Amino acid sequence: MMTKEEIVARIKELKDNLKAIILAHNYQIGEVQDVADFVGDSLELSQMAASLKEEVIVFCGVHFMAETAKMLSPEKTVLLPEINAGCPMADMITAEELKAWKKTHPGKKVVCYINSSAEVKAESDLCCTSSNALRVVESLNDEAVLFVPDRNLANYVARQTTKQIIPWDGYCYVHNNIRLEHVEEKRRKYPEAEIWVHPECRPEVIDRADRVFSTGQMVKEAGRTSAVQVIIGTEVGIIHRLQKINPGVEFIPLKETAFCSNMKKINLASVLRALEKGRYQIEVDSSIREKALTAIQKMISI
Ligand code: 13P
Ligand code: SF4
Repeated sequence: MMTKEEIVARIKELKDNLKAIILAHNYQIGEVQDVADFVGDSLELSQMAASLKEEVIVFCGVHFMAETAKMLSPEKTVLLPEINAGCPMADMITAEELKAWKKTHPGKKVVCYINSSAEVKAESDLCCTSSNALRVVESLNDEAVLFVPDRNLANYVARQTTKQIIPWDGYCYVHNNIRLEHVEEKRRKYPEAEIWVHPECRPEVIDRADRVFSTGQMVKEAGRTSAVQVIIGTEVGIIHRLQKINPGVEFIPLKETAFCSNMKKINLASVLRALEKGRYQIEVDSSIREKALTAIQKMISI
């Protein structure tokens, strides 16, 4: 049995030998965030993967994120330490289901949240993230748009645009299980605190929050907020990152059990195995990649 310190030392040694880099999503466990070279949101990390000189990328996140990184840098080796770390929301729509749905709405464009498979992206016109969804939708000339897979993000956008947003009925169980009662309880307990929530939350939770931020925006705001206490309505892993950025602020989870079990599948042992065994390599079929990349690059240009 290796100690934690021995595992971390071995990870660093192998990383240097292999000229690899470790990227970790904001929701990863603290130990994995601490061993990573960069921590960020899904798009930031994928774009970073494409811009770095290292040829081997250990992507500590969920499958669609590693897949997006691979599509943006196909010549690199992208390793996901746990092959079963998926996103249940991304799995709520398949390419076949999207094709069938498009047939029932002829001529309508499709905007897909980055939390979707490469195959679903390939069937979409434009991709978006939680921080740019409104801008992406507004960039289209069409009056009505199909939006997949998150109904809560779709609803959040719909309330800020005059366009008709037709949502797919998907959701993130972690954010959807944050309820109004959790907001009311925290408001009572911490009357001076600000409440920040992610747009994957339910509309009634968003209505009672002070600010609505993607994970990347929360990270930026954490560094400059004047609040003394901030209640965070998203996956609890991000608290580690926010607290490190600004130790002077108390960041409190809106719901202590808001865990994404897939994000938590990766640990130091699996990062070490990924480097030792070169696993699990993410591959995307080139015809799928080409089409999906069009939707991703259109978003990046916006
Ligand atoms: P970001 O795109 O903000 O990294 O979030 C991804 C996610 O899975 C949110 O639940
Ligand atoms: Fe998917 Fe929700 Fe987990 Fe994000 S928090 S990876 S949307 S299940």
